[in-house]
Amino acid sequence: MDRVFFTNSGTEAIEGAIKLVRKYAYNKDGRTDHEIIAMKHSFHGRSMGALSVTGNDAYQAPFKPLIGGVRFAEYNNLESVKSLITDRTCGIILEALQGEGGIYPASNEFMQGLRALCDEHDILLVCDEIQCGMGRTGNMFCYQSYDIVPDVVCVAKALGNGLPIGAFLCREECAALVPGDHGSTYGGNPLVCAAANAVMDQFEELNLTAHVKEVGAYLYEQLEQLTAKFDCIKDHRGIGLMQGIELTIPVGDVIKKAQKEGLIIISASGNVIRFVPPLVIEKKHVDEMIAKLKKCLQ
Ligand SMILES: Cc1ncc(COP(=O)(O)O)c(C=O)c1O
Repeated sequence: MDRVFFTNSGTEAIEGAIKLVRKYAYNKDGRTDHEIIAMKHSFHGRSMGALSVTGNDAYQAPFKPLIGGVRFAEYNNLESVKSLITDRTCGIILEALQGEGGIYPASNEFMQGLRALCDEHDILLVCDEIQCGMGRTGNMFCYQSYDIVPDVVCVAKALGNGLPIGAFLCREECAALVPGDHGSTYGGNPLVCAAANAVMDQFEELNLTAHVKEVGAYLYEQLEQLTAKFDCIKDHRGIGLMQGIELTIPVGDVIKKAQKEGLIIISASGNVIRFVPPLVIEKKHVDEMIAKLKKCLQ
C-alpha cells in the first residue's frame, strides 16, 4: 500500500474506506448514486456507515434508515457478487476471514474471483483486516494468504495493542481523497503512533508472524483432535490464531464453565467458540487451554 490515513478506531477506518471508494467512482463518472457490495454475516463496526455495510439485521434494524447504496452478497459465492454488479457499483468490501460472523475463511477462488471482478469493472476491493490482520493469521495481513492485493485495507485493534489507533491504506492509483474530503483531530497523533511503532518493533523482534504460523498450526491440530473426540463439536474452522469450533450445545454454558476454570473464551455468531488468543502464546498455553476446554465439554 502506498498511502495511509490514521484514524482512532477500526470503525472510523471503515468510514474512511467507504468515502474513498465512493470518491474514486465519483471522480470517474460524477454520479452520486454509487453502490457498495458487502457480505452477509459480515461485521465492520457500529457507526452509521460501518453499520450500513455490516450484513447482520440484528445489528442494523434498530438504527434504520442507514446509508443507502449497499447490497449484500453471499460470502464465498462469486456468482452472488456478480449478480449484484451494476454500472453504479463502486466497491466490494469484505473480511478475508469473517470474525463476528462465525469464523469463516474466504476460499481462494472467491478472493481471486473478487480481485478479477474488481479489475474488470474498475471498482475497488476493500479488505477489512481489523480483526484478521496484524499477524493474526500468520501473515501480516490475511489477504496475503490468497495471493491477491486489495485496493484498500482497513486495520486497527492490534495495530495499537490497546491504544486507540486504526488506519485505512490504499494503492496510489486509488488515492481519491484530497485534504478536506476527510479529516480527524486525533487521527495519527504522536502518542498512539508511538505505540503503533512499538508494536511494529515487537513484530520484528519476536518474529511474530512466523511464531503465529507455528503455534496456530499446533492449535489447529489440537482443535481437530478435540473435534474428532467430542460429538458436540460440529465443525472446526480458521487460520493461524483465529479459529473457531461450532457446537451443537449452547455455547454460553461452555463459556460460563470455562470462566470457572480460569479460561476466558468468546463466542461468535452461529454457536461458535472463537479462539483469538494473544499472538505471543506458546504451545504450553494451547495445551493448558485444551485441557480446560475438555473438562468443560465433558
Ligand atoms: C472485522 C471488524 N471490522 C471493524 C470492527 C470495528 O472496529 P472498532 O471496534 O475498532 O471500531 C471490528 C471490531 O470488532 C471488526 O472485528
